[in-house]
Order: sequence, then structure tokens, then C-alpha cells
Amino acid sequence: MIHRFDDPEALSRAAADLFAQAACAAVAERGRFDVAFSGGHTPQRTYELLARPPWRDRTPWPDVHVFWGDERCVPPEDARSNGRMAHLALLQHVPLNSAHVHPIRCDGDPDAGAARYDKLLRTQLPAAAPVLDLVFLGLGQDGHTASLFPYSPVLAEKARWAAAVYVAEQQMHRVSLTPVIINAARRVVFLVVGREKAQVLKTVLEGPTDARRLPAQLITPRPGRLLWMVDQTAASHLTPSTDKVHAER
Ligand code: 6PG
Repeated sequence: MIHRFDDPEALSRAAADLFAQAACAAVAERGRFDVAFSGGHTPQRTYELLARPPWRDRTPWPDVHVFWGDERCVPPEDARSNGRMAHLALLQHVPLNSAHVHPIRCDGDPDAGAARYDKLLRTQLPAAAPVLDLVFLGLGQDGHTASLFPYSPVLAEKARWAAAVYVAEQQMHRVSLTPVIINAARRVVFLVVGREKAQVLKTVLEGPTDARRLPAQLITPRPGRLLWMVDQTAASHLTPSTDKVHAER
């Protein structure tokens, strides 16, 4: 399913609406809402909006459990930290239960950080159904999502829910959720904005499947659970049939 928006602000407002509605539904049904935030720049405006009326007042924050789709292995106060970005934009402004906020800590030992987060997910998610209600994802110009980068060994992971990766181009260690836990989510939403994403978005959605080169193609939750929220500039290379095909999923 692809939803196109006129501009980034319209997309961010719609993503905030989706978050608040999904949170209310999950809490009503199961007493909690488990969400994994993405990093990078695109989701920041959505997080800022969620900290303000009406979204702040619509969301059952005490029952929201916050995880991350990935993290850079840097100190929490580092400007590159995805956890820091979400705290500044949203988390410190809303009445969350601090025990429900689960940042990925991997700035010491990435492998140990990944193992800790894998265990945390397995102990913190509901025992009856250990899945995330919502996973926000972004799309990199190289086709990566979360920290699932092209040709990375983690792309073949079939068991672990979190794994350490080394991103040579950035000379940076990261921890990422794996496709295993992402594809089990009740809803996966990509937020994609900007002309610089137009070609990769077209290649991911319309091109042949080559998931090692385009890891975003590994994100294949059950039918009806994947949504691409894109602005017109990012969608500018897509053909109408692509909209139709994904609209039927
Ligand atoms: C990260 C993100 C990453 C991001 C994409 C898009 O930690 O960098 O998780 O997967 O979503 O790189 O980033 P932008 O939104 O900044 O374009």
C-alpha cells in the first residue's frame, strides 16, 4: 500500500495520526502499544507533532512501550544517536512510563549491546504475542532500512531479533532489528521524503527483487501490514501501476 502526500508536513501529520490511532486501538485491545521508532531525519517532524496537541492528548502515553529499529553505537548524548533525537523531539515531552522506554545501548561493545537488546525484546514484548504493534522505518539512498545495509551478513539472519552490524562507509558500528522481528509486526510503515529518494524508491518498489542489494525489499510482513507513506517528490519516479499493485496488498 502506498499513500502519497503533497509535502513532508502533510506526511508527518498523517504519520502522527496513524501512530495515535494505532496506539489507541492497541491499548483498547491489549492494554499496551509496542512501537519501534526509526532514526535519521525523516521521522523527526512526526515525533515533534506527537508531542503537541491534538496528538499528545489523543495518545495513551502511560501504556506506550518504546523500542528502536536501530541505533548507532555512540554515547547517548551524541548528536548521531537515534535515541537522543527521539527524546529531544518527543519522549521528554509526554507522560511515558520511563520503565517502558527501551533505548539500544551499544556504545561499548556492539555485539554485547545487540545480545542485550535481543534478550530485552524477548522479555519485554507481551509473552502471549511477542510482536511489535508498529515499526516505523526509513529508506536510505542505497536501499537500506533500519541498519540493514546492502550485502551485510545480518540480512541473512533468521533467528535473532537484534544484531550488531559494521557500516564501513560510515566507519560506524550499529545495532539493528532484524527482518525476523520487523516482519512479525502488526504494522510496518515506511516514511520516505525527498527527491533524493525518488530513484531508490522506484527501484525498491518497481525493480526486480534483489534484497541483498536493496535490503528494504526484505521487509515483507503479512499482506495488508505494510504501508509506504511517501511525499510527491519521493514518489515522482513511480508509475501509477505501482500505486495500484501496492494498493491491493
Ligand atoms: C538511521 C536510520 C536509517 C534511516 C535512513 C533514512 O539510523 O539512520 O534508521 O535507516 O531511516 O537512513 O534516513 P533519513 O530519514 O535521514 O533520510
